[in-house]
Amino acid sequence: MMPSWPLPENDPWSTPFAQLLMHKLELQPGDSVLDIAAGGGIPAFHLAELVGPQGRVLAIDIHQAQVLRSRSIQGRQMPWLRFEVGDMRLLPATLPRFDRITGNLSFMFFRPNRFEALRNLVRLLKPGGQIVLTFPSLGTFDSLWLLVEEEMKRRNLAKERKALAEYIEERPSAKQARQWLEELGLEQVEVTEWPLEIFTRPGRDFLEHPLLRGGFLEDVYECFEDQSLAHEFMDDLSKDTRRFTPLLAQRCAMSGFIPVPK
Ligand SMILES: C[S@@+](CC[C@H](N)C(=O)[O-])C[C@H]1O[C@@H](n2cnc3c(N)ncnc32)[C@H](O)[C@@H]1O
Repeated sequence: MMPSWPLPENDPWSTPFAQLLMHKLELQPGDSVLDIAAGGGIPAFHLAELVGPQGRVLAIDIHQAQVLRSRSIQGRQMPWLRFEVGDMRLLPATLPRFDRITGNLSFMFFRPNRFEALRNLVRLLKPGGQIVLTFPSLGTFDSLWLLVEEEMKRRNLAKERKALAEYIEERPSAKQARQWLEELGLEQVEVTEWPLEIFTRPGRDFLEHPLLRGGFLEDVYECFEDQSLAHEFMDDLSKDTRRFTPLLAQRCAMSGFIPVPK
């Protein structure tokens, strides 16, 4: 029988990341799963279907509106799947332990102390448990950042350039993810990056692109104190997308297992 909760085919951002996550995840029917940064339920619904009624999935998101939306999609289906409001960086140590922890497009939101947040999460895994998180890693849309940086330099926007450098420095890298998983004592650590091309056209298509606007272009606008200057700068940049295409995201998946005591 075809699963009724596949990953959505028409989502050009969450689904390619979730496919990579599912590729790395070793899942059995009956497993207990904590899905963090659950949003609209990618891949929580799919996971719930795979673990079946003997398993359980706790899907958490910090935004109540997201949780309510996912609950309304779920209705009375798969009662072993629960959507709850929670901050993935501050989950209580008293939660029952999980066989698997997943988080699609999650790791970039572990700020400000990513290592501490990761350590807290890993504590919630059973021995032999696996964590798999995906995120756009350092290097994502570098062609765009390079051009923004050049343009800022050309226009003598020193303060804005400094702010941009700080944003870029802040982005999590695949190398850092691997180091932290190893430092936490996880085994079979794998950190993989796959490029994903994002297509855009000049003008509004670029400036209002749902993937770029949500979480990437904002960073550039936020580098400017003068928002009218920011708009003028970005409008100029958007006129010729050939200057920064192909626009590549780095799809990164980080995975590791808790050792089983001998
Ligand atoms: C990019 S969306 C990914 C949603 C979903 N996993 C997907 O792949 O479509 C990131 C989600 O993380 C949630 N989020 C951000 N910070 C969070 C935090 N500290 N704790 C829990 N959820 C958080 C946001 O509300 C948002 O729904």
